[in-house]
Amino acid sequence: MKRILNFGSLNTDYVYKVDHILQGGETIQSESRTVFPGGKGLNQSIALVRAGLSVCHAGLIGTNGEHLRDLLNQNGVDTSLIETRDMPGGHTVIQVSREAQNAILLFGGSNGAVDEAYADRVLAQFGAGDILLLQNEISALPYILEKAHARGMEIWLNPSPMNENVLKCNLSLVSVFVWNEVEGEQLTGTKIPTAILDKLLQKYPHAAAVLTLGSKGAWYAREDKRAFAPAELVRAVDTTAAGDTFTGYFMRGMLDGLSPKKSLTLAAKAAAIAVSRPGAAPAIP
Ligand code: ATP
Ligand code: RIB
Repeated sequence: MKRILNFGSLNTDYVYKVDHILQGGETIQSESRTVFPGGKGLNQSIALVRAGLSVCHAGLIGTNGEHLRDLLNQNGVDTSLIETRDMPGGHTVIQVSREAQNAILLFGGSNGAVDEAYADRVLAQFGAGDILLLQNEISALPYILEKAHARGMEIWLNPSPMNENVLKCNLSLVSVFVWNEVEGEQLTGTKIPTAILDKLLQKYPHAAAVLTLGSKGAWYAREDKRAFAPAELVRAVDTTAAGDTFTGYFMRGMLDGLSPKKSLTLAAKAAAIAVSRPGAAPAIP
């Protein structure tokens, strides 16, 4: 049985409801503030277990981050490899507008303290055939990717949020990419979804690529195969963690042997439920 390791961020999200996303130099009153557990890593672990998979989460919490470990435990995630650092934990300031658009300011905190020694301790527990899921909110990403690949792990990467750290990674070691359209455009320089996929596969011909397009649906590509699933029509209130929910449920579908199209459809249904509820982790069905 393949084991799944999700090596990722753990954040506290401070979510402010606003009339519109703040412009430079502007001051506005927020309508409410709610504190949610979040972080792409934590959200994806929650999505994986709620989709019915077993997952071990590795990552670093800071002072006051115990509630994040507790939440993962309550959801049945194996948290035995999570460690604590005596420093502020990862957190975000998230604005959510009336139109459900969001803007996220991320402070990495303890997520940025992941180092090679910790990565080695974690990866020593996993080996050939196990799956490693990564996002781009922790430090030492290039090292983790190389070491996991050397141990024979299959690597899934959601390179979000996209920045120069992703480009420092040997992306040819990745088996499955989950990109959104912004990340796809940043890497390929094109806005057209099918062209993004073609360019990605030209660059990484051994990988499969998922490209999510928000309310416009999602594509899957591998070699010359393509599959598309539209998004569900729902009233979105907060799209935070749409991509995280999608990733967890898509992996469930694929590991269950569903076709890429059925896996996309399953993931789209789950993500549609998530966007119709407020918050990140608590919104994941
Ligand atoms: P985030 O960073 O906010 O977690 P993302 O940018 O990684 O999300 P998106 O492409 O926005 O990911 O969304 C992922 C999937 O979630 C989409 O392919 C779609 O199935 C679903 N989704 C997103 N927004 C909506 C929406 N407004 N209505 C219905 N489904 C949505
Ligand atoms: O993908 C959503 C997540 O991104 C939020 O929970 C926030 O913590 C940011 O990291």
